[in-house]
This record gives sequence, C-alpha cells and structure tokens, in this order.
Amino acid sequence: MHSRWWGGLLTDVPADTITETGTRTYALSELMVRTPWQKTGTARRLHDALPAPRPEERATLLVVQDHPKVHALYQSWGWQTLGDLRPSILDAPLFHAMLLGLPQH
Ligand SMILES: CC(C)(COP(=O)(O)OP(=O)(O)OC[C@H]1O[C@@H](n2cnc3c(N)ncnc32)[C@H](O)[C@@H]1OP(=O)(O)O)[C@@H](O)C(=O)NCCC(=O)NCCS
Repeated sequence: MHSRWWGGLLTDVPADTITETGTRTYALSELMVRTPWQKTGTARRLHDALPAPRPEERATLLVVQDHPKVHALYQSWGWQTLGDLRPSILDAPLFHAMLLGLPQH
C-alpha cells in the first residue's frame, strides 16, 4: 500500500522499506517542549512514552535539515536516517526522514 507520508521521498530506497499496511508505522509529529523544560530529559521521556503502548513495528518522523542539532539528537536516541524528503506542499523545506524500531508487545 502506498502512503502519502512517503510521497515526497527523494532518496531511492527498497520498495518494501516504505510499504505500509495501515498499522505498520507510527508517525511522531512535532515533538516540542517549552523552553523551561528543555535540557531536563522531559523531551526524551515524552519521546519514549508516546509510542510505548502502540502496536506498530516502527516509528517515523521528519526533521528539518536546517536543524542539524535536532537531527543529531534523534540519532543519539536511536533513530536512523532513511533519506531526504520534501513534502508536496508549496515552499516546504527539505527534511530528513527517520525511522526507529519499536519494541514489540
Ligand atoms: C527538540 C526538543 C524537543 C529537544 O529537547 P531536549 O531533549 O531537551 O534537547 P535540547 O532542547 O537541549 O535540544 C538539543 C539541541 O538542539 C537545539 N535545538 C532544539 N530545537 C531546535 C530548533 N527548532 N532549531 C534549531 N536548534 C534546535 C538546541 O539548541 C540544542 O542545542 P545545544 O545543545 O547546542 O543547546 C526541544 O529542543 C524543542 O522543543 N525544540 C523546539 C521544537 C522542535 O524543533 N522540535 C523538533 C520537531 S522535529
């Protein structure tokens, strides 16, 4: 099944990497904590807690390529970069598309 999520992927990847079943992939969108809560471990705890009860086998997120520190942070949390993605939206920025395996229940 094709998913609109992968629609703007610019990097060639094996077809089965982006095959979706409707229940394969959890999309983490816009993780954000207010400034007083940054650098306190709160973002990491939210990041770990949100998908914990989910049945999907993996998670995906998009991080703007202009924010290399945030990209590095996600890498340090175990995320792998799948490739470049630019959503089909006017003036959309270029993103890194990332994947993380989720623990199976
Ligand atoms: C991303 C976030 C949740 C991480 O929180 P955290 O684990 O407490 O980590 P930090 O806030 O220390 O961020 C890590 C580094 O990335 C930088 N960074 C974070 N958000 C950034 C942004 N939007 N643009 C540029 N740099 C950013 C921080 O300045 C920090 O760099 P430093 O160590 O040199 O100070 C939090 O920084 C945040 O809410 N940022 C704004 C929203 C955002 O960009 N979310 C990502 C959506 S994919």
